[in-house]
Amino acid sequence: MWHRFWDKKEPAKKLVEQIDKNRLPRHIAIIMDGNGRWAKKRALPRSLGHKAGVEALRDIVKACSNLGVGVLTVYAFSTENWSRPREEVNILMSLLTDYLRRELDELHENQVRVQMIGNRDQLPLEAQKELERSMEKTKQNKGLILNLALNYGGRAEITSAVQRLCEKVAQGQIKPEEISEAMFANHLFTFDLPDPDLLIRTSEELRISNFLLWQIAYTEIVVTDCLWPDFNPERLTEAILDFQKRDRRFGGLNKQ
Ligand code: FPP
Repeated sequence: MWHRFWDKKEPAKKLVEQIDKNRLPRHIAIIMDGNGRWAKKRALPRSLGHKAGVEALRDIVKACSNLGVGVLTVYAFSTENWSRPREEVNILMSLLTDYLRRELDELHENQVRVQMIGNRDQLPLEAQKELERSMEKTKQNKGLILNLALNYGGRAEITSAVQRLCEKVAQGQIKPEEISEAMFANHLFTFDLPDPDLLIRTSEELRISNFLLWQIAYTEIVVTDCLWPDFNPERLTEAILDFQKRDRRFGGLNKQ
């Protein structure tokens, strides 16, 4: 079992004790923004910002697993990220491959199930191979689902769902009027996951950046000013506590 971040730190323990375990977000999605700015502040190359970002991710995965969160979706590489300099794209891809190689055994021992959303075919072969191996090895695990959004874009996801539904209509398998919200959601990459309850974005930016456009219809959003490499389990706990203070009405009225 992973070391629990609050075990030896009294202030962290006090924070965690405030969490209502019966109302944990089942699914947390994170836009991990600010690696570049973190590096710039330290006059370091951007690659070291991303490297520090991976370390932050490791801690957040452990923390989610120990807190009992069901699904953690992280935006690791968007369809738009291909427009970054080739060198940076290569670094991000090799960080992903290294992360999976290095962490897989420990993730597996801790019952984490690795999944991905996005278009896998366009990723470098090495990355595809590591993803395949990680997903295959952990597919029976019953703990945290670590869902990596890679080469992911919300619009691309919606477009591909529309294409698949249109094919079914053209082949006479379904009628247009039979398409419901539930059927549509079943054609998204996230067909087997609940919608996120909480979306966290680091680095202050107030944007969705093409992330989970359909799925976040009623998601609570927490934006923090801290840069992703500085985000840690304590900050995650604060975001969960903030989430638990919200009054979620899903368009209805408060029952109290
Ligand atoms: C945004 O920072 C972050 C990304 C584009 C990628 C996030 C990737 C990681 C945390 C590491 C790699 C992931 C895995 C799964 C190994 P930015 O570069 O846009 O920061 P900036 O806005 O400050 O420039």
